[in-house]
Amino acid sequence: MYRTHTNGELRASNSNEKVTLSGWVQKTRNKGFMIWVDLRDRYGITQLIFDEERTSKEVMAIASKLGREFVIQVNGTVIVRESKNVNIPTGDIEILVSEVTILNESLTPPFTIENETDGGEDLRMKYRYLDIRRKPVRENLIFRHKVTMAVRNYLSEKGFVEIETPYLIKSTPEGARDFVVPSRMNAGQFYALPQSPQTFKQLLMVGGMDKYFQIVKCFRDEDLRADRQPEFTQIDCEMAFVEQEDILQTFECLTRHLLKEINGAEVAEFPRMTYDEAMKKYGNDKPDIRFGMEFGELNEVAQHKEFNVFNQAELVVGIAVPGGNVYTRKDIDNLIDWVKRPQIGALGMVYCRCNEDGSYKSSVDKFYDEQDLAKWASVTGAKAGDLICVLSGNTSKVRAQLSALRMEFAERLGLRKATEFAPLWVVDFPLLEWDEETQRYHAMHHPFTSPKPGQLALLATDPGAVKANAYDLVLNGNEIGGGSIRIHDKKTQALMFDYLGFTPEEAKAQFGFLMDAFQYGAPPHGGIAFGLDRLVAILGGQETIRDFIAFPKNNSGRDVMIDAPAPIDEAQLKELSLQLNLKS
Ligand code: AMO
Repeated sequence: MYRTHTNGELRASNSNEKVTLSGWVQKTRNKGFMIWVDLRDRYGITQLIFDEERTSKEVMAIASKLGREFVIQVNGTVIVRESKNVNIPTGDIEILVSEVTILNESLTPPFTIENETDGGEDLRMKYRYLDIRRKPVRENLIFRHKVTMAVRNYLSEKGFVEIETPYLIKSTPEGARDFVVPSRMNAGQFYALPQSPQTFKQLLMVGGMDKYFQIVKCFRDEDLRADRQPEFTQIDCEMAFVEQEDILQTFECLTRHLLKEINGAEVAEFPRMTYDEAMKKYGNDKPDIRFGMEFGELNEVAQHKEFNVFNQAELVVGIAVPGGNVYTRKDIDNLIDWVKRPQIGALGMVYCRCNEDGSYKSSVDKFYDEQDLAKWASVTGAKAGDLICVLSGNTSKVRAQLSALRMEFAERLGLRKATEFAPLWVVDFPLLEWDEETQRYHAMHHPFTSPKPGQLALLATDPGAVKANAYDLVLNGNEIGGGSIRIHDKKTQALMFDYLGFTPEEAKAQFGFLMDAFQYGAPPHGGIAFGLDRLVAILGGQETIRDFIAFPKNNSGRDVMIDAPAPIDEAQLKELSLQLNLKS
């Protein structure tokens, strides 16, 4: 038997017990006549003591050779420690070792296996198996497991059935590029890995499995960020015979259950906001509503003077930064540089100080008097001591810029508290979105989303104005889920593909199976998918999903540990009927 107890288990009440422990050597302290070893496993750390007077010479000799991360097994007796360590649960005891076996030696690890490590991100990713030995990483993975189990249990209890769908499929468009897999048996043909199980879950509804879920890997070849991985996990759900309200209720209950069970947080009914309102108030379809700083549109009160920058702008919009009047001229210049960075792209920023005595001082005093500025303050909700920051320009660009500035202020002012949870449903998304690059409309959610009742005719005259039965669940400024009520008849689906620029032949080739299925009694249906990685990270008080994934990819989509992706050899290429034609 390798162990009678784990290294997190023993307490003073176990004293005098004979035990066997196994684990990794976290550190050793060797005073010659006495050697202490911290023995670690997944459950904790237990101190071992080797004492010249009570331990045999042979065992002392082995103990003095132990290096960091050696795997050892010891037999010994639990004794109460003279100097207790209050920082760990086993801190009252230590093990007086009588026998030690080295189960495996270890090279010196490339970084310290401590809560605070000296290893940089790249190094830790290369040796991820060592990183996983560190408590913060280990705890994140266990936390993920807890969330996953809570989701599974909850949905299963509510009558949802977990059904696996295939990975080797045909493109399921969710707005990213596909990862493709060449088929050896069908030369020149490729599978696509699912960007989501969207079409399959709809087919399951046609199949009568009216409550489906799956905790499932999805694959998207897109630019990576802190909240995006090329392969990530969804809690994918679909229901038949439901309306939007049923879906919102069901998954609000799931989310509330998780917040309670995982975080002990009681959250009231989730507020709802239309997409249009979110864009107008926060410049963003996933607003963080833990704090205010709502946008104030200033066109009416700022476009009547000689200030041409504002007069020519489609939108003049500002926010009141609480207590922002303390910023020095230099601080504000830095902020102006910040919004002018290419990532943000503003041309400049106008500001107005709201002095404690009720007076105002703006960077455009030449054009605006106190009365004008008082109106700015009223529209943005600024109070004495605040700073009003104003941007202007093209509506969608300026909203995105001010939204980024709002989030930056929230970070600087410590308004994004990890232990506070502010969920929000954003509803009534537009059905279509104009894409500058291809100069055409794309489905904003995906092409299977149904327009709001009675809006189909609008598609012909004003496609951008058509609203969809589509919704996102936002938590603390992150989109943690999104879904829609689907089209479930062939005619509407064909019309939709037509508006999206598919020829009937292309639509049939790519999605004929779905439209065929719709002819055999497809029930009304709809669903949602949560990003599990994001949900876990946010419940865990963080926003970087990499930290909650056992083996994540880096920002270039590489797994630096196994060194993938990697070339394949000629023979394999040939077998797949592929020829490389790499441009240098
Ligand atoms: P959507 O594309 O909105 O919807 O995806 C659902 C949720 O998945 C998460 N997510 C990601 N997480 C990590 N890395 C990524 N690259 C990534 N991309 C998306 C987000 C997002 O809200 N089939 C539809 C769902 C439906 O209509 O039912 C879908 O996939 O949290």
